[in-house]
Amino acid sequence: MKYYNLLLFLLFLIFNLVTIGLGGTNACTPSSCPEYKCFNSTCNGSQCSYKSYQCPAISNDLCTRGLCNTTTGLCNYLPVECPPANKCSTSIGCNKATGFCQYRSLPCPPSSDPCSQAVGCDETSGNCTYQKITCPNHSNPCMKSMGCIASLGGRCQYQSINCTSSDLCSVGKCNNQTGSCEFSPVVCPKHSNPCMKSLGCNSTIGGKCQYQSIDCTSTDPCSIGKCNNQTGSCEFSPVVCPTHSNPCMKSIGCNSSIGKCQYQSTNCTSTDLCSVGKCNNQTGSCEFSPVVCQDPPPCYKSMGCVNGRCGYVNTGDC
Ligand SMILES: *[C@@H]1O[C@H](CO)[C@@H](O)[C@H](O)[C@H]1NC(C)=O
Ligand SMILES: *[C@@H]1O[C@H](CO)[C@@H](O)[C@H](O)[C@H]1NC(C)=O
Ligand SMILES: *[C@@H]1O[C@H](CO)[C@@H](O)[C@H](O)[C@H]1NC(C)=O
Ligand SMILES: *[C@@H]1O[C@H](CO)[C@@H](O)[C@H](O)[C@H]1NC(C)=O
Ligand SMILES: *[C@@H]1O[C@H](CO)[C@@H](O)[C@H](O)[C@H]1NC(C)=O
Ligand SMILES: *[C@@H]1O[C@H](CO)[C@@H](O)[C@H](O)[C@H]1NC(C)=O
Ligand SMILES: *[C@@H]1O[C@H](CO)[C@@H](O)[C@H](O)[C@H]1NC(C)=O
Ligand SMILES: *[C@@H]1O[C@H](CO)[C@@H](O)[C@H](O)[C@H]1NC(C)=O
Ligand SMILES: *[C@@H]1O[C@H](CO)[C@@H](O)[C@H](O)[C@H]1NC(C)=O
Ligand SMILES: *[C@@H]1O[C@H](CO)[C@@H](O)[C@H](O)[C@H]1NC(C)=O
Ligand SMILES: *[C@@H]1O[C@H](CO)[C@@H](O)[C@H](O)[C@H]1NC(C)=O
Ligand SMILES: *[C@@H]1O[C@H](CO)[C@@H](O)[C@H](O)[C@H]1NC(C)=O
Repeated sequence: MKYYNLLLFLLFLIFNLVTIGLGGTNACTPSSCPEYKCFNSTCNGSQCSYKSYQCPAISNDLCTRGLCNTTTGLCNYLPVECPPANKCSTSIGCNKATGFCQYRSLPCPPSSDPCSQAVGCDETSGNCTYQKITCPNHSNPCMKSMGCIASLGGRCQYQSINCTSSDLCSVGKCNNQTGSCEFSPVVCPKHSNPCMKSLGCNSTIGGKCQYQSIDCTSTDPCSIGKCNNQTGSCEFSPVVCPTHSNPCMKSIGCNSSIGKCQYQSTNCTSTDLCSVGKCNNQTGSCEFSPVVCQDPPPCYKSMGCVNGRCGYVNTGDC
């Protein structure tokens, strides 16, 4: 039925050509041209020509189109029939503003795998095609994608990059600009006791920091060094010599060249040459006793000690 008008027009054209062919140079006037329903005639002076009549459009509704009825010569207005949609879409009718048929794609059924997404539809079968979700990179390059996790309902999971170093004395940190690990040596904290000096981190004992007490040994063996645990600096004090077990041995201090305490026996020499001093090893004090003169030889008598010498005089009796 649709091509009915066209068919009539073609038949008319053939007829017209035949008349021209037969009639040759017959002149025409606008009124002499035969009228045909749904065609408007014009005469160019020698020939009639026909134009099919285009029914005027309805404003605001380009979806109702007029078609000239060749029987009545009137326009019959009929709604535009939209061709059926493919299996991937559904027709939502003609758009009155444009006169075009509109279609909406049918939603694909969700995949049983939450990590798969519909990416297309086969128009002849209506079957949807699915593809595994590719996880986008995290905004922080230190977060590594673990891919889409079906058990999490198809969420993309991210894990921070593990920058743990195999060297326990090295600390790794992910650079959030580059996403690569950067390592720096372990910085040992100060010991609570300032007399403990850090020896640094030791990887063979699990990356622990090692400390050693500050060595306050003096170069002078008669000086004793000691670390002040408030200041962390060495303080030196002279060796204090112990008292000798023999109180007659007096300390004369520490001798730096041998690093030993030196003792000297108490000098009990008397100023009185006729007195003999001796140190008492119980008390440590000098005890004096007069010089004992030898018995005088025969015919002599002892005069006693004078200026440290024993004097004898002849008695004259012999
Ligand atoms: C053209 O043809 C149509 C339909 O046959 C008719 O309604 C219309 O009046 C014609 N126009 C003129 C100018 O002849
Ligand atoms: C009229 O149209 C016919 C066919 O299109 C052409 O051959 C002829 O020369 C035209 N005559 C005039 C006067 O334009
Ligand atoms: C033309 O109009 C006549 C009379 O109204 C009707 O019977 C016929 O079906 C119409 N033809 C078309 C092609 O619409
Ligand atoms: C469309 O899907 C159905 C059911 O899954 C299947 O039987 C059919 O072969 C598929 N057709 C095409 C063209 O992929
Ligand atoms: C995502 O990151 C990887 C390496 O982490 C890189 O090779 C890839 O180019 C990145 N992709 C985009 C889209 O940035
Ligand atoms: C990082 O890696 C180390 C060894 O390779 C491992 O012992 C540690 O548990 C990891 N840390 C995390 C958070 O995965
Ligand atoms: C990136 O790293 C710097 C230095 O470690 C830190 O200060 C900053 O907060 C980080 N930015 C983000 C977005 O993680
Ligand atoms: C690290 O500790 C081990 C075990 O105590 C020791 O043998 C080694 O000498 C230490 N290394 C350093 C550099 O102190
Ligand atoms: C600091 O030194 C003082 C005196 O030498 C001592 O009594 C004290 O126990 C020390 N304290 C610590 C924390 O070593
Ligand atoms: C210290 O001892 C050395 C070696 O025995 C000796 O030569 C020196 O005189 C001593 N110095 C003092 C001050 O006693
Ligand atoms: C003891 O003192 C006297 C005088 O003060 C001195 O002459 C003498 O040499 C001293 N003896 C010793 C062993 O030092
Ligand atoms: C103490 O003095 C007495 C008498 O002079 C002497 O016999 C003794 O050996 C002395 N003891 C020591 C430890 O010098």
